[in-house]
Amino acid sequence: MRAAVFVGVDEPLSVEKLTPTDPGPYDAVVRVGASGVCRSDLSLAHGHLPIPPPVILGHEGAGAVESVGSAVTRVQPGDRVIAAFVPACGRCFYCVRDRTHLCEHGMDGMMTAKATRDDGSALTAFSGLGTFADQMTVHESALVKVETDLPDEQLALIGCGVTTGVGAALNTARVEPGSIVAVIGCGGVGQSVIQGARIAGAARIIAVDPVELKRTAAVDFGATDLVDPADGDPVAQVQQLTGGRGADFGFEVLGRPETMNQAYAMTRRGGTTTIVGMPSWDAEVTFSAFGLFYDEKRLLGCVYGSAQVHRDFPRFVSLAENGRLDLGHMVSRRIALGEVNDAFRAMEAGEVIRSVITDPQR
Ligand code: APR
Ligand code: ZN
Ligand code: ZN
Repeated sequence: MRAAVFVGVDEPLSVEKLTPTDPGPYDAVVRVGASGVCRSDLSLAHGHLPIPPPVILGHEGAGAVESVGSAVTRVQPGDRVIAAFVPACGRCFYCVRDRTHLCEHGMDGMMTAKATRDDGSALTAFSGLGTFADQMTVHESALVKVETDLPDEQLALIGCGVTTGVGAALNTARVEPGSIVAVIGCGGVGQSVIQGARIAGAARIIAVDPVELKRTAAVDFGATDLVDPADGDPVAQVQQLTGGRGADFGFEVLGRPETMNQAYAMTRRGGTTTIVGMPSWDAEVTFSAFGLFYDEKRLLGCVYGSAQVHRDFPRFVSLAENGRLDLGHMVSRRIALGEVNDAFRAMEAGEVIRSVITDPQR
């Protein structure tokens, strides 16, 4: 197999030929059809997560099941699947309470050796997936079968960015029809929050991003008002657009303490602030204690869009098939596996909504 491997903090990913480890009884071998390049992969490569190299990166992917272990019951060879970066074991405390995004087995896959190098050393895979590869060995609890004609490059996005963003709007925040929504950070995940807010029937969606291309794209995905932080304090700009009150729903989709404070501050009293972005593991943020009490805002964490993947992946597929969720325009660039480092560069340069690896063999 070929895979793009995190070998050291701030070093380029190394595209290597590896030997997959033998699948266990509950594993399926998936031929990866497409993999989106998400900011969380870059965060890991920058050392923002305490995960030691070598790690096969990639956690946003779709493909087809090639073979299954003896105990696998959820998928069969030939099934089209989207990989979930949090598995849904179906049996733990959280899964039986319909909170599969908090599954207690979320970290299991991260510790498992997925491949070896010629010298015998073992590699793990990000979230137990490792979609930056032409194949991956995945526990069946992290696979969701979908029946659709949508291309893999669109299904891949459902694996992380789309589910995280649309789920944040629909599941976590529960955006109401007619409400005012503000979204800070309009990358692949932020644009999905915007789409989720549009699907939920928000009256106004304010997109905050310093990059013009992102603001222009936001309009296509449903934004009604645009804020460029370079034009002055984004909180003041949102307040000006909302009669001085702020938005009913504020979303932070970047993962930085500074923008978390902004999202909270641009939410109106009694409104809801949702933290979607993944911060560095050791980052801290402070809020006014009196404000937490007096303004009665609801401050919500949000992992994986609070998604129940077996319910939500088919739901998002259906929304896309019926033209209500635009996945096609989320794909800015199609690349080969060997171009993944340039995709990281393009992401940092603000050139793309999403780069998608559509040729994992090359
Ligand atoms: N204010 C608003 N937007 C900003 C600012 C700022 N000060 N600085 C950067 N941005 C914008 C970037 O221009 C970019 O459009 O934030 C966006 C981030 O998008 P991406 O880099 O594409 O990241 P994405 O994949 O969408 O992930 C966003 O969600 O899953 C997590 O780890 C992920 O924390 C990350 C977040
Ligand atoms: Zn992601
Ligand atoms: Zn579980």
